[in-house]
Amino acid sequence: MKEQIEAIQTEALAQISAAADERALDDARVAVLGKKGTLTLVAAGIKDVPKEDKAAVGQLLNAARTAITAALEDKQIALREVADRAALAGIDVTLPARQVHVGSLHPLTLIRDQAIGILRRMGFALADGPEIEDEFHCFDALNTPADHPARNEKDTFYFDSGKLLRTHTSSVQIRTMETQTPPIRIIAPGSAYRRDEIDATHLSVFNQLEGLYIGTDVSLPDLKGTLEYFLHELFGPSTEVRFRPHFFPFTEPSFEIDVKLTVKGQAPKWIEIAGCGMVDPAVFESINKSRKDNAFDPEKVTGFAFGMGLDRLAMIRWGIKDIRLLIENDARFLKQFA
Ligand code: PHE
Repeated sequence: MKEQIEAIQTEALAQISAAADERALDDARVAVLGKKGTLTLVAAGIKDVPKEDKAAVGQLLNAARTAITAALEDKQIALREVADRAALAGIDVTLPARQVHVGSLHPLTLIRDQAIGILRRMGFALADGPEIEDEFHCFDALNTPADHPARNEKDTFYFDSGKLLRTHTSSVQIRTMETQTPPIRIIAPGSAYRRDEIDATHLSVFNQLEGLYIGTDVSLPDLKGTLEYFLHELFGPSTEVRFRPHFFPFTEPSFEIDVKLTVKGQAPKWIEIAGCGMVDPAVFESINKSRKDNAFDPEKVTGFAFGMGLDRLAMIRWGIKDIRLLIENDARFLKQFA
């Protein structure tokens, strides 16, 4: 039996070492250690070995099994290494890894979040409204008569239904006053749409941030102080800001706000970024009519509103000289804000 075990071991080790792949190796394992394997069968014969030899034969069997198992494991590792190396043939693993491109926030998102952050710290809460509006919320309630040029089909995108793409976020003022009562202090960031000729400072879809503050003693100095503080927080305390008298149907008095834009290599120029003013009492009256109460009594409440272009704010903040860069999604441009 001793010779038999030795012969099986020699044969098995030879087969293992000759195995060309994992499959051949597994065959070799089954042939010797499987249920009907040569060593298994011999081991089964141990019951017929005379008592005094049993221990020696048992040791021999164990030694053979240990040696064969170790050889199987070693060979498997060796075969896997060969397979791995074959899989990597022609690949230079010392080359730098392929670059993973990580995205970053768009400049408009950055400026919007920053603007919202400043205004929220000043006590303004976020408000929202639909982009597809009706004429009442976009114009009528904002004291904008039917013959006002902004309502012209040449300036505004109308649907056949008579609805339109809001031309400004001021419609959110109306929606907020319909459902809330003074005091109100809200901001509404969102898209606005105009049939503008597209050029370096105009797009037909742009982003506004509307603000509304209604109370019992809100005055023009509050408006000026709030917006100056906001712009200085956003662009730095030395930023030049000017208020130009203007006209909006829904505010009286009204102003446009310009900020000085400085682009490297260009002469500084004023760029209009916002409209603002004290809410016209006519707006309060149409709100009261639509609410069927007197919550916005023009004798008691006053307020200011402002609407600014976030795209313009981004242009000033980073000295971007063409608004179209904001929608082209050219990675070379966007990378600069990462
Ligand atoms: N809605 C005006 C615009 O789009 C801006 C504005 C908002 C002006 C609020 C006054 C008050 O130009």
